[in-house]
Amino acid sequence: MPIAKKDLIHLSDLTVEEIWQVLDTAREMKQVLTRDDKKHPVLRGRSVINLFYENSTRTRSSFEFAGKYLGADVVNINTSSSSVMKGESLKDTALTLDRMAPDVIVMRHGCSGAHEILARHVKARVINAGDGAHQHPTQSLLDLLTIVEHKQSLEGLKIAIVGDILHSRVARSDLWGFQALGAEVTLCAPPTLMPAKVAQLGVKVTYNMDEAVRDADVIVMLRIQLERQKSGMFPSIREYAAFYGLNAQRLQLAKPDCLVMHPGPINRGVEITPEVADGVQAVIEEQVNNGLAVRMALLSIMGGVSK
Ligand code: CP
Repeated sequence: MPIAKKDLIHLSDLTVEEIWQVLDTAREMKQVLTRDDKKHPVLRGRSVINLFYENSTRTRSSFEFAGKYLGADVVNINTSSSSVMKGESLKDTALTLDRMAPDVIVMRHGCSGAHEILARHVKARVINAGDGAHQHPTQSLLDLLTIVEHKQSLEGLKIAIVGDILHSRVARSDLWGFQALGAEVTLCAPPTLMPAKVAQLGVKVTYNMDEAVRDADVIVMLRIQLERQKSGMFPSIREYAAFYGLNAQRLQLAKPDCLVMHPGPINRGVEITPEVADGVQAVIEEQVNNGLAVRMALLSIMGGVSK
């Protein structure tokens, strides 16, 4: 069954049924990834462009592997060595790439709204690999898959998202996905890093981390995004770690089988202690593995059907 909308920019571009379709397909892709021969060439003859205006390790490499394992031709454009550095606008880059007839363009950009501009100027389907502080839908899909694998369902789960909510595209996509699949979401951050009026989205809001993680089934820790922050958002890294870091003592307030998640990259010793990040409840490496499977699933569904 194809995904109805041409582009995946906001997680809500997928219906709940389509989210489950991606997760089910990702589970099939995980079987493919256990084989010696990981090639599953359902996209032979198709082409994917990865266009990254911001740094990435996980998202970019997993989209590249995903496209290649599926048999597509994959071109990676590093904007720091492209004509973007000569001042080319996003619209002109889009018009240029469109002439190369790609089937899918995966883009990461620092500005929300950039993907809508790209999508208007290309026939290819556009997948958002992160746009500023707005959305990171494929991160949310891999987070959903990780939770479903451990808990079967999100219905009624208590999920705490803790950290730099203000600058986090992961938080914005996750809270939409978690709620769509039936979880109760609590957001926790220092007051300076909590968006105004966020409670209107139907989430609980607290500035007290102990309260946020008490009896939680899942804790999603967020990276402090110093690259997007003005100075003075909190007094010091040390104080932030003391009040909003996840350590072993705090983790004991959660349910004994609580999952600890983090989208990466981690600031060890800031938002999470090494002991917890490497502990038995952490599923951070599984998230990376599921990222590859989810991106294979999405490319196979979206790349195989031109709109
Ligand atoms: N989680 C995530 O998006 O990581 P990268 O920035 O390494 O892609």
